Formats: sequence, C-alpha cells, structure tokens
Amino acid sequence: MKLAVPKEVRADEHRVALDPDACRKLVQAGAEVAIEAGAGAEAYFPDAAYQEAGARIVPDAATLLGEADFVLKIHAPQARPDGTHEADLMRPGAMLLASLFPTRHLASVKKLAERGITAFSTDCIPRTTRAQAMDTLSSQANLVGYKGVLLGAVELPSYFPMFMTAAGTTLPAKVFVIGAGVAGLQAIATAKRLGAAVSATDVRPEVKEQIESVGGKYIGIELAQSAQAGGGYAAELSAEDRTRQAKLLADHCAQMDVVITTALIGGVVAPKLIDEAIVRSMKPGSVIVDLGADGGGNCTLSRPGERAVVGGVQILAPLNLPSTVPHHASMLFSRNLLNFMLAFWDKDEKRFKVDWDDDILKGCVVTHEGKVLHGATLKALQA
Ligand code: NAI
Repeated sequence: MKLAVPKEVRADEHRVALDPDACRKLVQAGAEVAIEAGAGAEAYFPDAAYQEAGARIVPDAATLLGEADFVLKIHAPQARPDGTHEADLMRPGAMLLASLFPTRHLASVKKLAERGITAFSTDCIPRTTRAQAMDTLSSQANLVGYKGVLLGAVELPSYFPMFMTAAGTTLPAKVFVIGAGVAGLQAIATAKRLGAAVSATDVRPEVKEQIESVGGKYIGIELAQSAQAGGGYAAELSAEDRTRQAKLLADHCAQMDVVITTALIGGVVAPKLIDEAIVRSMKPGSVIVDLGADGGGNCTLSRPGERAVVGGVQILAPLNLPSTVPHHASMLFSRNLLNFMLAFWDKDEKRFKVDWDDDILKGCVVTHEGKVLHGATLKALQA
C-alpha cells in the first residue's frame, strides 16, 4: 500500500504528519511510504532522515497525492498556492487520515465526499482507553497549555516567581486557568513550575483533584445542572449557571496578573466566558492568553491570531500553537497516526484494512463513498 505525506499547505504550519521514526515503523510493516520533498524540514526532520528510514522523496505534491492509496496529513485538505486543491489531487477511492476538525471545515469535507475519498479524522476518535494512543487532541493540547503559559510570561511586565533580593522582594504572579482539561492542566503545571501562584476552574467538578495534583488551587462553582457531555467533554451551561459562573469569573479575574483560558464545548467550540466588563476590571499590565482562539475564543474581545489591548490589558489569541513547537508536536502527532495505522494494519496483505464494525473507525469516519457520515458534520452542513 502506498502511503503519502505531503508538506502542509497552511502558511503558519511547521509540523509534518509523519516523522522519520514513525515512517521507519510503517516501512517495516510493509508500507511504501512517500514524502513530499521538504515536508519535514520546518520541524527539523530533513529529507535524508526519511530516506534513511526507507521512504521515497517525491518532488511535488501533485505526483505524490495522485499515486497515493492513503494520505497522512495534519490539516484538512485545502487550496494550494498554485490554485489546485489538495483533495482534487487525490485519487477517488483513496483514504485520508488527518485532524480535520470537520465541523470547522465544511467546504473541505464536501470536497472530500465529492471526490469519493474515505476520510478519517483523529479529533473525532471516540475517547476510549484503546484509542488514547491515537488521540491527537490530547497530544497537541498538552503543547498548547505549555506554550500558552510561556507567551503570557513573556508579555507580563513582572516576574512569575517570587524573588527575594537585596533590592527587595517581588511577589509571585497570580495566574488563573479557566478550563482544566489537557491544555489547562498542562498550563497549571507549567505556570507552577515557573513559580506563579496558580488557581483554576472548570465546570466538571471531578477535575478538582487533578488541579490540586499539579499544584493549582481549585476555584469551583456549584452548578444547578451537570455540564458533563460524556467522553470528558463539557456541555453548554444553562442560562442560570452561566450567570453564576460569570459572577465568579468577574470576582476572580480582577485579582489576577495572567488569565489563561482553555474552555471548549464538545472539544470544538469555545464558550464566551470573559466579556469587556471583566477585561476592564483587570489591572493594567495584566495579560489574557485566550487558548480557545482556534474555536472562536473564550474572550469577547479576542481577535484570533492577533493581539488586542483594552484598558491596558493585553489579550493574546494565538492560533495553531502546536505549530510553534513543531519538532515535538510532529513527533507526538506521528505517534498518534502510527498507532492508528498499525491498529488496522493487515500484516499479511501489507495494507490498512477497514473494519466498519470497529468503534474507532465508525466514530471517526467523516466521508466515505461520496457521503458525509459524521453526525455533527452532517448537521452543520444541513444548517
Ligand atoms: P476540551 O478541550 O474539550 O475542553 C477543555 C476544558 O474546558 C474541559 O476541561 C472542559 O470541562 C472545560 N470547559 C468547558 N466549558 C467550560 C466553562 N464554561 N467554564 C470552564 N471550563 C469549561 O477538554 P479536553 O482537554 O480534551 O479533556 C477533557 C477531559 O477528557 C479530561 O479530563 C481528559 O483527561 C479526558 N480525556 C479522555 C480521553 C480518553 O479517555 N481517551 C482522551 C482525552 C481526554
């Protein structure tokens, strides 16, 4: 089976879907792996390392995608600078594995269906123990939490740690993390390691212990209705609970030096939690790092991909943060894809074998034989 890894088209993307190590393992399993020239260069994986791992380097995306049985990518296929579309370059009947975020990329999904491509999306994989090693959401969210704190620390006009010096003592920065999933817990741990006094909140009360275990102080709210949506995902709060939470956030944010938001509903959409009144109640010089920016942003004043300053408060809303740590992000993303591929790899026939009764494949297939099969995406398309 011919596997292909193109260079990502998105301008701010420095990751590659497969590193040389994962490439070698797929070659050992009997796959013919082809890599677009320079695909891993920005993640510090040179072509020579892929060649050493047994891959073939192909100079252009059109040839690479046109001959592939299975394409491995980071992002949903998109238009290329030369005007062609990645999905149009793939042959009908080919398979694709990527983090499609299908509800955010409906045009790409439609094109994949029209082209007769069987597309699997890693961010739609059911959250079961068996699938944990394939979970790109978690491997990349970890990097987001880490990098988000570093961005906040760089912009804050004060130290994070307490320093006792001959010139006087500086108090530790107060950091508040909203949303304590994978990204949030890493943000708490990173801020703590830098010496900040860290507090955190979430709508899932079971995270209290997890927050405390990485050194944060839990700030909880009593909800009238559970916000559990299954699989670790949170649901939207009721109007009454939103009001309660808004009061808590207004009281707490005003005391903070850095607020880091990571809240998502269903792993995709960022609820608006910080409004202009909360921003204006914060001290000039304080920093908000809105890590929900890819999902629209947790702060009403965030401008995804840009920096805003309101009342002396900086609001950072970085997009695609894993790409800013491209070496490790690619390595972990690759492991996730490798685990997915090997779980369905037929060693005798040396190919990926689809088992439509398997809960992982059923959960993450987005398009197949001209149809969109993913429930939430279908709903979004109909809407
Ligand atoms: P996520 O990225 O979907 O959301 C981030 C966090 O925001 C969540 O903790 C969520 O509860 C919180 N949130 C949503 N609305 C909020 C609001 N209004 N205010 C404050 N916080 C809000 O979540 P993530 O990081 O993907 O993981 C959530 C849970 O799922 C974690 O406990 C994680 O361990 C679990 N998980 C389980 C997996 C498995 O079993 N295979 C795989 C990945 C995660």
